[in-house]
Amino acid sequence: MPSDVEGSYSRRAAEYTAALGSIATVHPSDLALVTSRASSVVGPLLDAGCGPGHWTAHLASQCADARGVDRVPAFIEHARAEHPTVPFTVGDIDALADPDEGYGGVLAWYSLIHHEPDAVRRALDEFARVLRPGGQLLVGFFLGAAVDPFDHAVVTAYRWPAEALAGELDATGFAIVETHTRIGAAARPRPHGAITAVLR
Ligand SMILES: C[S@@+](CC[C@H](N)C(=O)[O-])C[C@H]1O[C@@H](n2cnc3c(N)ncnc32)[C@H](O)[C@@H]1O
Repeated sequence: MPSDVEGSYSRRAAEYTAALGSIATVHPSDLALVTSRASSVVGPLLDAGCGPGHWTAHLASQCADARGVDRVPAFIEHARAEHPTVPFTVGDIDALADPDEGYGGVLAWYSLIHHEPDAVRRALDEFARVLRPGGQLLVGFFLGAAVDPFDHAVVTAYRWPAEALAGELDATGFAIVETHTRIGAAARPRPHGAITAVLR
């Protein structure tokens, strides 16, 4: 990973957590989408790139078996302290420690945004490996007209056209179920996309 994602988030983990580390800060449409998708998952759920763990705790409130992984130790320490009944692990979503086909669902909510475009497939391959056939993947991302980098508040991030990211999912073995976008005034601070897919 060329840019220092781990170091950049580690330095600003407390700030990120204070600003965004609560389910109360998420957009109501995103909360509705994630909740409804989670309710249809059969089997354990992985929150991949869980940050402070608020989404993981929400998933755990919907389905008993949810866990989070992130490569930033400060996020995992916070998540464990804040949500002591939910399992959290320090780890890399490009090289998960989990066995094959162990999960019914993976949430990758804004955790692929810092991957260089040609490296997104590493994480997607891992999601495909740890999901059961028919398992669900939900990805949240910054929407854009082209795949291009921008100066995200923490570290360089990438916008993706929904079709381009859907193409990466398709090439990894996922069938696209639905795509959501939010643009214009409703999209503050930035245009947003979400794709739900199932492993073929
Ligand atoms: C924008 S934050 C999103 C966090 C959380 N999903 C949320 O919605 O608030 C991006 C997260 O992805 C994590 N991340 C990025 N690349 C990762 C990798 N290769 N392995 C594990 N975590 C990663 C970062 O550490 C950070 O916590």
